[in-house]
This record gives sequence, C-alpha cells and structure tokens, in this order.
Amino acid sequence: MLAEATNNNLNTNALAYSFEETLIASQKINWRIEDIIGGDKQLDFSKPFMPESLARVSNLNFLTVAERRVLNQIKGHTYLQIFGLVEEFILPFVLDHVRPSLDADDYRVRAFLQFASEEAKHIQLFKTFTAEFHKNFSTECAVIGPPAEVAAFVLARQPLAVALVILGIEWMSQRHFIDSIKDDQQLDAQFKSLLKHHWLEEAQHAKLDAIMVEAIADGMSLEEIEKAVDEYLEIGGFLDEGLKQQTIFDLEAFERVTERQLTESEREEFLSVQHQANRWTYLGTGMTHPKFLAALEKLSPAQRKRIEEIAPAFC
Ligand SMILES: [Fe+2]
Ligand SMILES: [Fe+2]
Repeated sequence: MLAEATNNNLNTNALAYSFEETLIASQKINWRIEDIIGGDKQLDFSKPFMPESLARVSNLNFLTVAERRVLNQIKGHTYLQIFGLVEEFILPFVLDHVRPSLDADDYRVRAFLQFASEEAKHIQLFKTFTAEFHKNFSTECAVIGPPAEVAAFVLARQPLAVALVILGIEWMSQRHFIDSIKDDQQLDAQFKSLLKHHWLEEAQHAKLDAIMVEAIADGMSLEEIEKAVDEYLEIGGFLDEGLKQQTIFDLEAFERVTERQLTESEREEFLSVQHQANRWTYLGTGMTHPKFLAALEKLSPAQRKRIEEIAPAFC
C-alpha cells in the first residue's frame, strides 16, 4: 500500500517517507539464520520439502509414494541452489544502484543497504540449509552455474531489465510462501519456515524494487522501455535454458539415490513435467504476479500485455 502510494507520487518527500517506513519494517522483522535452521531445527526427511504446486511430483504415476517424496526433496535442494544463485546477482545490483548517491537521502541509503545486507544473509541461509540437507542426503545433486557466470550474463543487460527480473523474484517469493501454507500439514517445518521468513524480508525488497524500477525508468521513452523488456525476456530465456539443464541434473540425482533406472518414456515424461514445474516456480510465479504486472503496466500497458501473452508458456 505504501509503495503504491509512493509510486503514484514520485516526489522526494513521498520517497523519503516510504524509505523510512520500509527501513523500520525491516528492522522489526530482521531474523537470524540460527533461529531458522541448525541445532534442534533439523530437516525431517520423512516429509516433503516443497509445496506440491511448485514441485509437481504427484502426477508422475510411475513413481512410488516414497520415490515422489525423494524427488520432492531433491527439488527442495534445487530451490536452495537456484535462490542462492539469483541472490548473487541481486546483491551487487542493489549496491551499484545506491552507490552513486550515498549523500542524497539518508533513509534511502539505509533502506537499500538493509536490502543488500538481507540478501547477503539469504545467500548464507540457503548455503546453511544446503549443508543441513547433505547431512542426511549423501548423493551428490548437481546444480547449474557457477553463480558468477550467471551474474555476469544478467548484469550485462541494461539496469531496467535487471530491476524487472529482480522485482519478479521478490514477488514470486510471496507466492511460494502462500503455496506452502496450503500444504500446512504435510511439509517439513524447516522448509516451511524458510519460505515464510524469506518472504517476510522480501516484502520490503519488493517495495524498494518497485521504487527502483520507477526511478530507473523515469524519463525513458516507450521505445526504450520496450528494449528493456526485450532484455528482460533475454534473461528469462537464459534462465529457462538453465532450468532445462537443472531438470536433467535432478533426474540423474533421482536415479542415483533411488538406484532406479527410468525407461525412455518415463524419462521423457519426467523431464517434460519437471521442466514445466521449474518454469512455473522460478519464472511464471513472478511474471504473472499481479503486483509485478501492475508495476509493468505503469511503465507501459503494451509491455504488460506482451508479458501476459508470453506468460502461459511458463505456467
Ligand atoms: Fe532474498
Ligand atoms: Fe530480495
């Protein structure tokens, strides 16, 4: 609500008020990694880690119930890795955004530094969860990357394209949290807590990112915005190729840990269903989020329409 009010009034006072409010909200929420995972907060491998709406393992009828749970847990590991990966380009982007104007507005500087600091903490949170995962899951699970190469590709695109990708990621974490509530009784408590606590801080990032998008787009022509959306889609296509590769890695990890060799038709179905699940989890949940689309519409109704037409491929 506050960010929306700010975005409709792009004057200095309105922005300063919003930055102050966002900073105060962040400081109230701020949690510690050790309160979320580790010690007596252990992963429970008798339960699924990911909401079914994201993992999409239940329709793979050729898998047993136990095998579906193992695949769900592999998808949980993938989630930790993919989010760790994207956070690694968000952190430098936010720092670069605030660096040229450190003397402009104290609340703005502090709000963005808080944002960056929380993303650094999230990178460490995902690494800590990954270490906990491997305490009980000895099989190697390969992941796409390395993060530095992904970051180099993304950050070579123009700032508005990157800011839009980040805005989508902030909003998708809200959807992931809501999806985990629906599976309340089934999910591992620690993964549920991860999705919840991540969103609690991402909620402030989403507001700041909406302001960042408007600030970067300020003064740009519709043609320039169209070009930025071209590059946003380039990043999406690049990430989608990575997700396709990740699906193969997940299949290999699944076959290793279950010591089950899938038939050719089973492999085909596995890869098709799981690639689409990854598309929805890491692209579609952001692209179709009403708040993301509303932010895009403010830049250009035509570009919103364009994304809405493309989005079903990622749902
Ligand atoms: Fe994050
Ligand atoms: Fe974030």
